Amino acid sequence: MWLLLVTTLVFYYWTWSQSRFVRLINAIPGPKSLPLLGNLLDLDVYNDNFLKMTTIDWVQKYGPMYRVWLCTRPFIALSSPELVQKILASNKLITKSPDYSNFSSWLGNCMFTSTGVHWKNRRRLVAPGFHFQNHTSFIDIFNEKSAECAREFERTIDTHGDVEIDVNPFMAKCALNIICETAMGQQTRIEVEKAIYVNNVHRICQIFVERVSRPWLSIDWIYKLSSLGRESQKCISSLHAFTNKVTRDRREMLKEEEQNRGNVQNKVMDVEKESKRRFAFVDGLIKASNEGADLNDNGIREEIDLITFAGYDTTSAAMVWFLYLMAKHPEHQKLILDELDVVFSGDVERPCTTQDIAELKYLECCIKEAMRIYPSIPFVMRNLTEDVEIDGHTLPAGVTVAMVFYAIHHNPLIYPDPEVFRPERFFPENSVGRHPYAFIPFSAGPRNCIGQKYAMLELKVVFANLLRKVKFSVPDPTKPLSDAPDLGFVLKPKHEVRLNLSKRLNKLG
Ligand code: HEM
Repeated sequence: MWLLLVTTLVFYYWTWSQSRFVRLINAIPGPKSLPLLGNLLDLDVYNDNFLKMTTIDWVQKYGPMYRVWLCTRPFIALSSPELVQKILASNKLITKSPDYSNFSSWLGNCMFTSTGVHWKNRRRLVAPGFHFQNHTSFIDIFNEKSAECAREFERTIDTHGDVEIDVNPFMAKCALNIICETAMGQQTRIEVEKAIYVNNVHRICQIFVERVSRPWLSIDWIYKLSSLGRESQKCISSLHAFTNKVTRDRREMLKEEEQNRGNVQNKVMDVEKESKRRFAFVDGLIKASNEGADLNDNGIREEIDLITFAGYDTTSAAMVWFLYLMAKHPEHQKLILDELDVVFSGDVERPCTTQDIAELKYLECCIKEAMRIYPSIPFVMRNLTEDVEIDGHTLPAGVTVAMVFYAIHHNPLIYPDPEVFRPERFFPENSVGRHPYAFIPFSAGPRNCIGQKYAMLELKVVFANLLRKVKFSVPDPTKPLSDAPDLGFVLKPKHEVRLNLSKRLNKLG
């Protein structure tokens, strides 16, 4: 019996290893792999060297396209702008890899995890919310929440003097408050529930990363039985209940407004009220659904939860990396302050306007350079739905391809001294001739980040408001700060980012 089983397995493995699929994959250069295990032993995500090995060392050794085997599953890593463009610019190769399905229990069949016509329809329904006519609403919220964050920093300084603190929780709170408000609007009646929602989003993001780092939890039934799986289910139920409630409440509110609109006496009041009310993504989706779009309340919930998720961890990580770099490079922090001083005429209280944002050119170069060194999403993955010819190789349908932004952003041929923080790289005159896919923190092509403009606006407003009030520096210049990144879906600092905070003494001094 055993002999028969072993012989069948060996025969099956041998037939599979001779298949066209495997032959095409093995024609691509890559590290030596073992039978059955593939490169599993090399790919230890807990190893501090993992990011460097996979994004720099192996690219140097095997070129901008290499393959690895995770047991019997192959991955192709692409690390040059030209190769990545082949996949990302395609309107057909838009199917995400199955690894993203971990998010489905929370986000359902949202735009992020879906493909084909469903993805296209959802993207078309969500896109108008990001239109520039809503930017004023967004900027109001960015100003309000970052002013709260600056006040929190100032209160901490008032209580403890010039202090050394981990900026992570401050920026996480700021980013989450911003995205919740823009996604769902003000819900003062349910402030307590909102706090619970915020905590649950935070926890569920942690749980996703914890799950990925424990391979046995990738098996669904084991995960569901584990304490982590049960905790995640609890969080998800609570998150769904909250978003459902918000959708119901907003639907009622919009309905009431619609009914009152007929009343002539209310007309002037309504126009005034509506012009003051800030846009929330949920309102845009409810309106589309009322106007006959193929979107029920579940669909609205999925997209609102997605926007919250996609807009939280990514921006929070970008904020922390930026402040870290500012502390490490006071000379650039000073140049930003000089620019802020001119744009705001020395006023540290005035909220940012669209006009200011357009003028903050040096700040923008610093943000881009921070995102080049630490792209919040270091890579994205697609599953090929058809064979693709690249660089003399055929990548067979069914294979997972990783577009490694981190490797492109750290390529010394594109960015000399790639580890050095040099915002001038993004001055217009220094960007001439650079490949359009050489800087893609928001991905590119039809499935790029729909929140790209929103995110850049948010980062500019938050930093313009924080840097005018608080000075960030390294606690001990003789000891280098750790910049070890933690490789998950989002690239975050592995350790606390403890910076020295002090209030700015005069104007912008
Ligand atoms: C620093 C901030 C951000 C970065 C670096 C970032 C990066 C990305 C990247 C790389 C993707 C593409 C994923 C892929 O190709 O598989 C993506 C998709 C997406 N992002 Fe962002 N993002 C940021 C902020 C935001 C914000 C603030 C929002 C919403 C308010 C948002 C909403 C989305 C959505 C909905 C998608 C899915 C698009 C689709 O599948 O069609 N992102 N983001």
